[in-house]
Amino acid sequence: MSSKERITFGDFQTPTSLAAETCDRLRRRCLRPASIVEPTCGIGNFLFEASRTFSTANSLLGADINQSYITQTADRFDDAGRSARIIQADFFRTDWAKTLAALPEPLLVVGNPPWVCNSRQGTIGAANLPTKANSNKMRGIDAMTGRSNFDISEWMISHLVEAVRDRVATIAMLCKTSVARRVLASAWKKDRPISRAAIYGIDSRAEFGVAVDACLLVIDLDSSAQRTLECSVYDDLSAKELAHSIGFRDARVTANAAYYDRWRSVLQGSPRPWRSGIKHDCAKVMELRGDATLLLNGYGEHVVLESDYVFPMLKSSGVVSNDPHTSDRWMLVPQRMVGENTGQIEERGPATWSYLQSHADRLKRRASSIYRGRPPFSVFGVGDYTFTPWKVAISGLYKQSRFTVVGPRAGKPVVFDDTCYFLPCANRSEAKRIASTLNDESAQQALSSLIFWDAKRPITAELLNRLDFEALGKDRYRAT
Ligand SMILES: C[S@@+](CC[C@H](N)C(=O)[O-])C[C@H]1O[C@@H](n2cnc3c(N)ncnc32)[C@H](O)[C@@H]1O
Repeated sequence: MSSKERITFGDFQTPTSLAAETCDRLRRRCLRPASIVEPTCGIGNFLFEASRTFSTANSLLGADINQSYITQTADRFDDAGRSARIIQADFFRTDWAKTLAALPEPLLVVGNPPWVCNSRQGTIGAANLPTKANSNKMRGIDAMTGRSNFDISEWMISHLVEAVRDRVATIAMLCKTSVARRVLASAWKKDRPISRAAIYGIDSRAEFGVAVDACLLVIDLDSSAQRTLECSVYDDLSAKELAHSIGFRDARVTANAAYYDRWRSVLQGSPRPWRSGIKHDCAKVMELRGDATLLLNGYGEHVVLESDYVFPMLKSSGVVSNDPHTSDRWMLVPQRMVGENTGQIEERGPATWSYLQSHADRLKRRASSIYRGRPPFSVFGVGDYTFTPWKVAISGLYKQSRFTVVGPRAGKPVVFDDTCYFLPCANRSEAKRIASTLNDESAQQALSSLIFWDAKRPITAELLNRLDFEALGKDRYRAT
């Protein structure tokens, strides 16, 4: 199989040991399936292990798009003297509701659908994707996922949840943890009868050689049972103790349901907006290192600029190291507000103008569409708030939620790159007070109810903008 085919079909067969461990975990959840289905079965590792684990299941069905896998899987069952229906089928062209309706309950739909996103397929010219209007009248990609880029496993698992929504069924799938959350969010939003749900971490590096946060997602559906809006999270398949529960609250998935319930009253909005750092998409030109006497850009060129356009800068690493004042980084900031006319730099800062002109091509080639139709050399994320001397800042990228007080350096306000978020403050004491409230346990708990640490950018302005730090601060004063 070519590597393009492997990517297109997300063809990474689950190791037998992991399939066995997964089935053992499902057994310990006291499942008693009458039917077992593996919709993208490959060489059938899950179907085989599940059929061994659950002797109650008389009806076994495996499907895969790859005919050679179908032949191998069918032979495997024949050799073991076990009866199973193994069919060649494209998931996206199969009427799963009808196929599953023919099978006795309880159903166990188990497996490992392909971990590939549609945009990755686009880049290699592949299209193993749902069709917008096929014979089963599946809904369009965007309508199903709410986004134009998504993992096809998300589409598949959500589609399976829909297909069994009126049945007594368990869906148990290996997938990225972010996919698991989105599948749950979609099912909860549609009020599907989830009676129990769990996420068990798996070591995807050891099992599949990929560095992505992954899990076994298990969803039990039963419209006659009590519904739950929580999903238990366990560190791994053998964990005995619950790590925490995620939950569906106020129309979204929260990272820690207990903390969210506890701190919900202070999660109704920030009294002031958090800002993100400056976006320029041209670090080698706009970010400089050195001191006031010698500044170098990312090409190693000696750069001379008017002081009005140069500001001390911190990246995420500087914010996290909590030693902002030792940084030797600087940023060229050509505008004081978004959209400001940059033509005036020619007169006010001839050296800066000449430097920008010498790199005009590079700045013009910036790919993001936000720069189109804007004055040349434009940046984003600038406004009065950028130039306030005192700020409370946090990195959006690092897996920690400590807030740092950042004051002026060399008599100038420090600016941030766009991996950081900050709150402009009136003065040093306000910055210290707010940072102390935010670093206190209550705020950290409240925030941790919103943060998914496996996300590429765990902390965002949207998330920070939900925390009412003033209300929390008042509570602290009351408590002391
Ligand atoms: C990650 S592998 C998992 C295989 C098997 N479930 C396991 O766990 O070992 C994904 C499987 O999905 C199959 N597949 C990919 N796209 C498919 C499609 N559109 N319809 C059916 N099967 C598909 C691939 O052939 C591959 O066997």
